[in-house]
Amino acid sequence: GRRYEYIQVSEPKPGVGQVTLNRPKALNALCTPLIKELNQALGELNASDSVSAIILTGSQRAFAAGADIKEMQPLTFSKAYTTSFIEEWSNLTTQVKKPIIAAVSGHALGGGCELAMMCDILYCTEGANFGQPEIKLGTIPGAGGSQRLTRAIGKSRAMELILTGKPFSGVEAGQWGLAARTFATYEELMEGALKTAETIAGYSRVAVQACKEVVNKSQDLPLRDGVEFERRVFHSLFGSQDQKIGMKAFAEKKKAEWTHE
Ligand code: CAA
Repeated sequence: GRRYEYIQVSEPKPGVGQVTLNRPKALNALCTPLIKELNQALGELNASDSVSAIILTGSQRAFAAGADIKEMQPLTFSKAYTTSFIEEWSNLTTQVKKPIIAAVSGHALGGGCELAMMCDILYCTEGANFGQPEIKLGTIPGAGGSQRLTRAIGKSRAMELILTGKPFSGVEAGQWGLAARTFATYEELMEGALKTAETIAGYSRVAVQACKEVVNKSQDLPLRDGVEFERRVFHSLFGSQDQKIGMKAFAEKKKAEWTHE
């Protein structure tokens, strides 16, 4: 929309919200004003009654080429520290309770790779160009790359990629399990992301939010605590209308009409 300078927000299908990074001249480099807009848009989609699932994407050429290097160049330690530089990027993971699908085509480098990894499901084209090239700039990943990439693909591979700054392809992202699915073309990628978002949007919003919450907990908790947390949330869903509606519909061989209550 025209409210935003660096992103576009749309609802491509009922129940599906989409944020498209739109700073083509800088390959969607993630400057602070862009991140502020992204947070605002995602906050509104999260609060919207008409949206159940969200797609985050860039252009065919670039998901995002990283944090804005020109913005960072003059930054000092004290400035970065006292303004908690980059911290607000993580609002995406704390503020948004609805599932976010990253649809990655082209460059997803540095902060772009990290932003994609913050999402709940990562889809990409086979030709996508991922990497953590910060070492080439005399610095290190700053938006979770060293943690999320390592959890996703293992220590040795992540260490090699982060220490060399070497890019990796969408095909490799798929083989290593960083991407849930890969697609031959950009069009197929966007179609696949939309289909999955629509599938999720067809379910109870209460159950969908609970799924996201418990899976994410697995990244933070030891197994025994995680399983216990899951069971507590599972128990709590017996307090929802949608659990009754879903199981009754199954017994009666009907389609469930969710109330999202
Ligand atoms: N920040 C600021 N501007 C960027 C940028 C970035 N991360 N990436 C690209 N741009 C700009 C370029 O400066 C260029 O602008 P001008 O036309 O004004 O010169 C424009 O986008 C187009 O880029 P290129 O001409 O370089 O395009 P290319 O097709 O030749 O190369 C590329 C594409 C390989 C992605 C190359 O642009 C590149 O290497 N970009 C930087 C990638 C990078 O190092 N990212 C990590 C950033 S650090 C980080 O993200 C920290 C963190 O962990 C949070």
